[in-house]
Amino acid sequence: MERIKTLRGFRDIYGEEVEKLRFIEITSRKYFELFGYKEIITPILENTGLFIRSIGDTTDIVEKEMFTFRDLSGESVTLRPEATAGIVRAYLETGMFAKERISKLFSIGPMFRHERPQKGRYREFRQIDVEVFGIDDPIIDAELIWMTSFILKEIGLEKKYTIEVNSVGCPVCRANFKNIIVDYFEAKEEGLCNDCKRRLHKNPLRIFDCKNTQCKEIGATSPMLYDNLCESCKIHFNGFLEYLNILKLNVIINKRLVRGLDYYTRTVFEFISNDLGAQNAFLAGGRYNNLVEAMGGPNVPGIGFAIGMDRLAMLINEPVKKAPPQFFFAYLGDRAKALIIPFMERFIETQLKLSYLPQAKSLKSQMRYADALKADYVLIVGDDEIEKGIIVIRDMKRGNQINIPLDISSLIQNLSAFFEK
Ligand code: HAM
Repeated sequence: MERIKTLRGFRDIYGEEVEKLRFIEITSRKYFELFGYKEIITPILENTGLFIRSIGDTTDIVEKEMFTFRDLSGESVTLRPEATAGIVRAYLETGMFAKERISKLFSIGPMFRHERPQKGRYREFRQIDVEVFGIDDPIIDAELIWMTSFILKEIGLEKKYTIEVNSVGCPVCRANFKNIIVDYFEAKEEGLCNDCKRRLHKNPLRIFDCKNTQCKEIGATSPMLYDNLCESCKIHFNGFLEYLNILKLNVIINKRLVRGLDYYTRTVFEFISNDLGAQNAFLAGGRYNNLVEAMGGPNVPGIGFAIGMDRLAMLINEPVKKAPPQFFFAYLGDRAKALIIPFMERFIETQLKLSYLPQAKSLKSQMRYADALKADYVLIVGDDEIEKGIIVIRDMKRGNQINIPLDISSLIQNLSAFFEK
């Protein structure tokens, strides 16, 4: 019978990669707690209008990449392509905006974009998303970068990435800049792709985000928004750079850095790794001071970022260290087998992991199985050991073994002494 496979761009994640994703998640959660963030869980399926309005109707995501369909009641719904839109909606819908002066939130889960799959680019991928509402001071822009540097250091990536920053200004500087670049692109309109010809009069800044090679070439020599920022955006960006300096965080100012979503104002940033290939950004974000208002809320500034977990996991080379040691119970004969349940009971009570192979035929097959499970220690019990009142403990890494009395309580105590040797 023909097998049904996963959809293109979707994948199963198991084994070591799951351990890496969990490691990223646990480490991130630890620092979110220390920096005062609270978790929010929002729906994966939302009203399509939410994304059109927030991300922007001329962006690639909205124009080409959304998993949108009509549900059984005829409503247009979309699998979330990113988390910010849903979190802003929730911030308003739950009334959080009225209860808290500052809201610091994080969320973890799958996102969906109908992009062309390639290394590090999937149609279902996972993000760790962080959002802060209520602070315009650039100290928070720098604090976000600072917090990620702790997370990335603990994951083992210190100095293995670069941080690119830029300012995309506000509606005031953008209105002036629009005239400048419309003039520039109009003179080169022939060379632009059809999408960009359309964007030229609707949303010319989107041309900078086009993936077409010729549009990229034309955009590469254009005037830059960075050189046309209004006074208050300049002050904000300089403040951001000063805080980064105080925090000793090295960044590269990339004046041509633009983002694929329309809601950004002022600070934007991307974390880039050379070890990722073409899809080299594993973390990205920025400020969105007008989004909350545009979504029907009060005038509250916001800033955030998302870690692309699938990409970050690709950067972890070392196997993730298992925190507690793992034990395996190898038995020979029915009397020894009868010890499995009382042993497991005590191990679980003590928060220790003990595995075994049901229906084991030989000691050899059990040792092979323990090896495959990457057990740290194997406890071996047979009729002989029961007669003598002992249990053999084998250290799988070092290959040595010792005998200790066959008594579960003293065994548990002895085990901790055994690790220290
Ligand atoms: P984004 O740049 O679209 O921003 O995505 C953030 C990160 O998600 C990217 O840098 C990348 O690592 C990962 N990512 C995006 N698309 C894919 C894909 N198809 N496959 C694998 N990984 C992918 C946002 O999503 C914003 N919502 C970030 C943000 C939060 N800005 C403010 N707050």
